[in-house]
Amino acid sequence: MNVRNIVCIGAGYVGGPTMAVIADRCPDVRVTVVDVNEAKIAAWNSEALPVFEPGLPEVVQRARGRNLFFAPLTPQVLAEADMIFVCVNTPTKAYGEGAGMAADLQYWEKSARTILAHARPGTIVVEKSTVPVRTAEAISRILNQSNRDEVFPVLSNPEFLAEGTAVQDLVAPERVLIGSSNSSVGEAAARELGAIYEYWVAPEHVLYTSVWSSELAKLTANAMLAQRVSSINAMSALCEKSGADVTELSRAVGMDGRIGQRFLEAGVGFGGSCFRKDILNLSYIAGQLGLQQVADYWRSVVDINDYQIDRFCKGILENMFNTVAGKRLAVFGFAFKPGTDDVRDAPAIRVCTRLLDEHAELAVTDPQALDNARAALDGLPGTVHYLADPYAAVAGAHALVVCTQWPQFRELDYERIFASMEKPAFVFDGRNCLDHERLYDIGFNVVPIGKAPMRHY
Ligand code: UDX
Ligand code: ADP
Repeated sequence: MNVRNIVCIGAGYVGGPTMAVIADRCPDVRVTVVDVNEAKIAAWNSEALPVFEPGLPEVVQRARGRNLFFAPLTPQVLAEADMIFVCVNTPTKAYGEGAGMAADLQYWEKSARTILAHARPGTIVVEKSTVPVRTAEAISRILNQSNRDEVFPVLSNPEFLAEGTAVQDLVAPERVLIGSSNSSVGEAAARELGAIYEYWVAPEHVLYTSVWSSELAKLTANAMLAQRVSSINAMSALCEKSGADVTELSRAVGMDGRIGQRFLEAGVGFGGSCFRKDILNLSYIAGQLGLQQVADYWRSVVDINDYQIDRFCKGILENMFNTVAGKRLAVFGFAFKPGTDDVRDAPAIRVCTRLLDEHAELAVTDPQALDNARAALDGLPGTVHYLADPYAAVAGAHALVVCTQWPQFRELDYERIFASMEKPAFVFDGRNCLDHERLYDIGFNVVPIGKAPMRHY
């Protein structure tokens, strides 16, 4: 079988961009993305795509209506598929066994049962969402329950794209990982998927492994990236106590080729839909398998992240004479990182929640994530203003709190900002992204991460 018809279940941050790039690069393959959320499908068919991702509108524009379609989930769409990607969400479980740690697989299982009901035997099922190790096996049991043969071969093909650079990551991936069972059916299915990627990816970048290695590689990659962030954040606390500068430390350590420069930026903590979820999941799996030390080791990466956010909030409070009650604080950036409108697990959510607990009045500004910020903070007691204009956010504020290093924040007129603020005016730079010396010269009290504060008193 040659794959001519791909269907993707789940039109979110992973499914949408991934399928857009596949359709763009494989003009003779028909790609249909379906979702239970009809508003999302309508948005994918409009000019205002439901996810903000640089370069994505151009890719969608080229392929949409040619061989890329966004459609409701119908039995017929599934029946026509040669290959079905499952890109549904797998959040951390909020209830029952494993609550707060394990992945919630209800959307995955629902998708599997829909596939079983409507897809043709032989359709290749591709696990794309991050799911715990051995999910493919469980899914395969659902799909192949009454047969010893693999009627629906299940592959693991983890996604390594990072938000903000998704298009570039998909167009030029460092590696494409394809995990399959070692049966002839499984291996043939893996080659079919490999052939899709080889439309634009060099064969030496396509890696074939067992399903379990592939699933675990995804969790490990995210855990190790997050571990680097927690490591440098732990050092930032030590820097603040000892007088060292974490930026100098990162540079010096990263110049060791074995360590490397990337993912060594100290900050208010990591966020995003993957890091916390995947590590908690990894830790849960290790614990379930009786490896408590391994579970605790990975858990500590998340603990340091919580500690870092907590430290940042305490620093705001202490520097502002132990009270922010009734004071306006401008929050610069809400997305979990620049280049995206995604606020899932964004440190800004916790920072804002803590500041509202202290009865601060908040003015949040973000170039892309204001709607998502509003939804994330909805229902919390207190006053929050959502303002697209950073100058409006900061007017009358006692402090400016940076949670996301959007490059445009560097370009603002800080003399004008200083003039419009209450005094003493503070900058808490949770991403060390502003020009601290200049801000200090203007008159701000500057409190960075992992380096000495610059105060005028
Ligand atoms: C991550 C992985 O990088 C990607 O491969 C995987 O497919 C999905 O999860 P993403 O969540 O989009 O991607 O963002 P990433 O760039 O990894 O950043 C995650 C968080 O770590 C952000 O909040 C970012 O601000 C923070 N971070 C990153 C730091 O605090 N310091 C750094 O040096 C790097
Ligand atoms: P991710 O970052 O993993 O892509 P998102 O939440 O952005 O996560 O996207 C997942 C998408 O999957 C959502 O749009 C959701 O509506 C969709 N989804 C979840 N369950 C199903 C299902 N059973 N059938 C179709 N779509 C689903």
